[in-house]
Amino acid sequence: MNEYQSSLGHTQGINDEDCPICFQNVNFEINSNRIIKDISVKIDRKGITGIIGPSGSGKSTLLRLMNRLISATSGKISLDSEWYDTIPVRELRKRIGLVQQRPYLFPETVRDNLTYGPSIWGINLTEKDLFELLDKVALPHEFLDRKIENLSGGEQQRVSVARSLSNNPDILLLDEPTSALDIVSEEILEDTLRKLSQEEIKIIIVTHSLEQTKRLTDQLLFLKGGEFIEKTSTKEFFQKYNEEEIRGFFKKEKGE
Ligand SMILES: Nc1ncnc2c1ncn2[C@@H]1O[C@H](COP(=O)(O)OP(=O)(O)O)[C@@H](O)[C@H]1O
Ligand SMILES: [Mg+2]
Repeated sequence: MNEYQSSLGHTQGINDEDCPICFQNVNFEINSNRIIKDISVKIDRKGITGIIGPSGSGKSTLLRLMNRLISATSGKISLDSEWYDTIPVRELRKRIGLVQQRPYLFPETVRDNLTYGPSIWGINLTEKDLFELLDKVALPHEFLDRKIENLSGGEQQRVSVARSLSNNPDILLLDEPTSALDIVSEEILEDTLRKLSQEEIKIIIVTHSLEQTKRLTDQLLFLKGGEFIEKTSTKEFFQKYNEEEIRGFFKKEKGE
């Protein structure tokens, strides 16, 4: 922003920098305990971004801030150059989907889960829309009228992704989405995420698996003790540190 613009106040509520999500000096505290410490980082527009760091380093908290399930104690976050506090929460959650570690679904049918989000916005998904959503997550069309309780964990997690996609988001956040899945379900979900990324949906994934980080991500944000340590390409990260150092980064924080 130049002085002229700032004197006019025209750019108030706009972050000039081009990034899907930008953090500017973000802190998050609970009971005077600082969990996120002065994080400033720009998420890249292209590719799959991984968030890694030892258990307890603040990865899930960072995702919750991005989805505004919690709000920063201080500092600012922007979505496509708009500051978070200028975007209605419901709209923000429509534009940024969140898939948690465990499938989070109503105990009804797949159809009920997929039609709910759009119905809030007055949109009725057609049968074709629903089939397309199932195709995206590699589930057969006949699953539409199955009850959630009759699906496997991997299938339920794919429905969770499809449910997020039903809102047509720009960004999909995933918090260790495959940690409770078998290896085949994990592969299917990773394939889905790669395809979505090619369809211009920005994927940001918290992972505690070194192998998944290697297979799936293009860039990494590395956290430790609530602090942002670095952002690198995945390739550079694996060149820069040796195997033993990297295994250390994925372990628990000391004193836990
Ligand atoms: N609601 C909460 N109340 C108190 N402490 C919390 C809360 N949420 C997270 N924490 C603490 O913040 C730290 C980071 O947690 P989290 O973001 O879940 O880490 P990660 O996902 O990297 O394992 C941990 O020490 C955790 O105990
Ligand atoms: Mg976590």
